[in-house]
Amino acid sequence: MTDTDILFQPFELGRLKLANRIVMAPMTRNKSAGNIPGPAVVEYYRRRAAGGVGLIITEGTCVNHIAASGYPDVPYFHGAERLAGWKKVADAVHGEGGKIAPQLWHCGGMRKAGTPPEGAVDGYTPSGMNLPGKVNRHIMTRQDIDDVVRAFGQGAADAKALGFDAVEIHGAHGYLIDQFFWEGTNQRDDEYGGSLERRSRFAIEVIAAVRAAVGPDFPVILRWSQWKQQDFSARLVSTPVQLEQFLLPLSAAGVDIFHCSTRRFWEPEFPGSDLNLAGWTRKITGKPAITVGSVGLNTDFIPAPGETAFRAAEPASLDELVRRVAAGEFDLVAVGRALIANPDWVQLVAAERAADIKAFRVEMLDTLA
Ligand SMILES: Cc1cc2nc3c(=O)[nH]c(=O)nc-3n(C[C@H](O)[C@H](O)[C@H](O)COP(=O)(O)O)c2cc1C
Repeated sequence: MTDTDILFQPFELGRLKLANRIVMAPMTRNKSAGNIPGPAVVEYYRRRAAGGVGLIITEGTCVNHIAASGYPDVPYFHGAERLAGWKKVADAVHGEGGKIAPQLWHCGGMRKAGTPPEGAVDGYTPSGMNLPGKVNRHIMTRQDIDDVVRAFGQGAADAKALGFDAVEIHGAHGYLIDQFFWEGTNQRDDEYGGSLERRSRFAIEVIAAVRAAVGPDFPVILRWSQWKQQDFSARLVSTPVQLEQFLLPLSAAGVDIFHCSTRRFWEPEFPGSDLNLAGWTRKITGKPAITVGSVGLNTDFIPAPGETAFRAAEPASLDELVRRVAAGEFDLVAVGRALIANPDWVQLVAAERAADIKAFRVEMLDTLA
């Protein structure tokens, strides 16, 4: 039997005090009609807080920009009614003793013209591409860049004002910020394109705007990934030295916690060490890192690039996870599908009731249970 006690140690970073090491991974649910998180969304997050999750990171929620959304019924993080809905979510989570951060999101080129409610508005991208080599989207102007940077800052200010405990910037998975990072989709010849350092400029401006909006001691989390929805084998960096060159400017711009998205947390990031992406990120930046990817499950969540269907999975051992946490490789552990299947996953693990943990089934996404 796994001794999971290590997962139930408290975590503290300045004003952010978490009861344990378990984070709910951000998961889009498309259940916010009118882009407003309604009562069912409030209840969905409340249940995970009641189930003992240390920190909830919400589903991606769109910043105030005309092209931020790419999907129907995703919640927005602007406008009085939407923000009032989010305040109810945060209050409900706090009522259960939980902590919560919104994931601020801009879909970039993943947006297809026609997506409601903005309709004809095109996807906004660094170089017109959602897929490398295929130019069929709006190329962002300097003004567009400034507008989006400002929108992230405003979202962070609102998160703090509403009483959230931290904010996460979605810089992963081939969405807008990642499309700037990625050479495949960033072919700009101004100061936002070129070397990885220059391709990071947009993210650095976003992070700096968020930091300026929330002040020095409100936790800012950056989610980033090597892999893209468009290409699972894509890499921003291929050596620890490059990783250091990439991360240190982001860290200096104001990131407090790095959320390192992988699909299988147990995979070593570089040859010669078994550290995963979060492990390397923590080692290089000296800042806390969140790992993610098939925690407590036997398969990863997305079958192939471009697929929208997610993958079912059976419960699996936590031994390897616990070993890595105990070794100090990373600080926090994000759990996705297992928390959809089991709102009380944290309590079941704590009580060593492995037999009661349900498998994740794709149909579970149909409703907000
Ligand atoms: C239904 C679903 C929706 C997701 N939506 C988001 C999202 O809005 N933002 C994000 O960064 N990742 C999103 N992800 C990825 C998860 O945060 C997580 O990284 C992934 O599911 C792997 O964790 P798991 O294997 O524990 O499920 C989503 C995953 C699923 C299954």
